[in-house]
Amino acid sequence: MMIKTEKLTKKYGDFTAVNHVDLQVQAGEFLGLLGPNGAGKTTLIRMLVGLAKASAGKIYINGQIMGRNKGDLKGMIGIVPQHINLDKELTVRENLLFCAKLFKLPKEQREKRAEELLEFVGLKNVEKRESQKLSGGMQRKLMIAKALINDPHILYLDEPTVGIDLTARRKIWDILKTMKNKGKTIMLTTHYIEEAEYLCDKVALMDEGKIFYCDTPDNLKIKLGKFTLEYFNDNNETEYRYFKSLEQAKQEAGLLENEYTLRKTSLEDVFYNFTNRKVN
Ligand SMILES: Nc1ncnc2c1ncn2[C@@H]1O[C@H](COP(=O)(O)OP(=O)(O)OP(=O)(O)O)[C@@H](O)[C@H]1O
Ligand SMILES: [Mg+2]
Repeated sequence: MMIKTEKLTKKYGDFTAVNHVDLQVQAGEFLGLLGPNGAGKTTLIRMLVGLAKASAGKIYINGQIMGRNKGDLKGMIGIVPQHINLDKELTVRENLLFCAKLFKLPKEQREKRAEELLEFVGLKNVEKRESQKLSGGMQRKLMIAKALINDPHILYLDEPTVGIDLTARRKIWDILKTMKNKGKTIMLTTHYIEEAEYLCDKVALMDEGKIFYCDTPDNLKIKLGKFTLEYFNDNNETEYRYFKSLEQAKQEAGLLENEYTLRKTSLEDVFYNFTNRKVN
């Protein structure tokens, strides 16, 4: 087990942002953490990387408890935070060199590592540009390169593709797939459900500080019903109904007077149903 939490909890005063989370991520697994704004995703990640102190509960990395003075464990971890963490006035290359220095890499190794990473994320051609002058997509790629500087075993990414165009996003997906193929354990949050569907082995659904489900996208779809009947009802609302079998779905569809779509259930349906379950 690469990452394991036991009853991990974070309180801010009376407010509980993360509430008794038990999470397990296997070595080499790619986990997606999905949940609406304010669910507690960033807070959970900040505890996992040691940036926020847990109010209660435990974190284990490779069976070893993670706590204070565990620099060796923290050295195994790379993080791409939700908000831009670049030194604005430094160039792309300087950002990486500076970060390598913080990790105490010897000088010749710093140059080599920066060079490799510039190639890997496709920023070699803008290496001399100040990071504040990069496009949003380039900044996100540089943040990923930074997170990889110490060749971490575990990579946490908090909304790494927020607000960037499709081409840049797909390029980042390729980067992350490559990291997965290299055997890294990866945890990612995103509001782009298709991103989680494309990348993740497992998906954890989080809301109000708790993780309610954690399973493969396929199993989550099966749980909801593999087939979706979708139609615009007489109250001007789109209705979604889920069925275990195609026959059942067809039968129900046959009774409708409205125009309908009958399709396979997607992870987006699972997420939509999860986040709207209180009003249903
Ligand atoms: N330092 C803090 N002090 C008080 N409350 C906080 C603090 N940090 C986070 N919170 C609260 O904890 C809750 C969870 O926040 P968090 O940033 O973890 O959510 P999130 O799931 O990452 O949301 P988003 O998708 O918007 O990034 C929110 O209600 C937030 O206001
Ligand atoms: Mg967040």
